[in-house]
Amino acid sequence: MDSMERLRALLDQDRVRGPGDDSAGYLDLLPPDTRRPRNLAQAAMHNPLLAAVYQRWWRPAGAMLLGGGLPGGDGEARLARQALRLGGEQTVLDVACGPGNFTRGFGEALSGSGFAVGLDVSPPMLARAVRDNAHERVGYLRADARELPFADGTFDAVCCFAALYLVPEPFRVLDELMRVLAPGGRIALLTSVHAGPAPLHAVEDRIATLAGGRMFGRDEITGVLRDAGLVDVDQRVSGLAQFVSAGRVPA
Ligand SMILES: C[S@@+](CC[C@H](N)C(=O)[O-])C[C@H]1O[C@@H](n2cnc3c(N)ncnc32)[C@H](O)[C@@H]1O
Repeated sequence: MDSMERLRALLDQDRVRGPGDDSAGYLDLLPPDTRRPRNLAQAAMHNPLLAAVYQRWWRPAGAMLLGGGLPGGDGEARLARQALRLGGEQTVLDVACGPGNFTRGFGEALSGSGFAVGLDVSPPMLARAVRDNAHERVGYLRADARELPFADGTFDAVCCFAALYLVPEPFRVLDELMRVLAPGGRIALLTSVHAGPAPLHAVEDRIATLAGGRMFGRDEITGVLRDAGLVDVDQRVSGLAQFVSAGRVPA
C-alpha cells in the first residue's frame, strides 16, 4: 500500500463526503479554499509566501519570541516524540501540521506498519508539506480539525502544536483530538498560556485577539484533559507557551 492508500484506509467513511482529491499529493476532503480568512493570523496561514518560510524562519522566530525557553525545532520534536512515546507500528495524527515540520519526524520515528497523518486546512501549507516533508510513512490530509474524519480511538498518538490558539473553536478541536485517541494512547499539545501576573492577563488577551489568536488560562487545557478522564497530565510553561501531554487509560 502506498501512503495515499494508507491514509484513505484510516478514514471513517461515515464522516467523509465524497472521495476527495489527491491530485496535489495530499488528500483534500474540503471545498476549495475560497473563504476570506477571518483575521490576520488565519490569513497568514493561507499565504504561500509564509508557507515557504514557515519552517525555517517564522516558526523558530515565533518559538523564540513567545516560547521563552522552548527548546526550538529539533528540541521540540524530541519533546513531542518522548511525550507521545513514539515508535514501532503506531498510528499518529499531527493536527494543524502546517508544512509538516513535525510530521515527517514522526514518520521517521516509526517502523513496520507505523504511519503518521499530517492534517491541516491550508492548501499552501499542505503543498509545502508534500514538497519538503514527504516520507514513506507519512500522508497529508486537508480537513478541518473541528470535524476530524476518523472514527473514535483511531490513533495511538495525537499531536497539536501551535494551533489551538488560532482555531476558531479550540475546545471543540480538543474534544476531537481526545475522541480519536485510542485507549493507552498519548496526546501532546503546544499552545499559548497566560504567563504574567493576573493584572497583565487582560493586556495579553487584547494583544492575542488583535493578532487573531487567544490566550488560555493556566489550568484551562489541563482541566479539560483531566475532566475527560485523561491521566498522567503534565504541563510545562515556558514564556507565553505551554507544552502539555497526557495519556488515555488503557482498555
Ligand atoms: C502556526 S501553524 C502550526 C504548524 C505546526 N504544527 C507547528 O507547530 O509549527 C498553525 C496551523 O494551523 C492550521 N489550522 C488553523 N485552523 C485549522 C483548522 N480548523 N483545522 C486544521 N488546521 C487548522 C493552519 O492552517 C496552520 O497551518
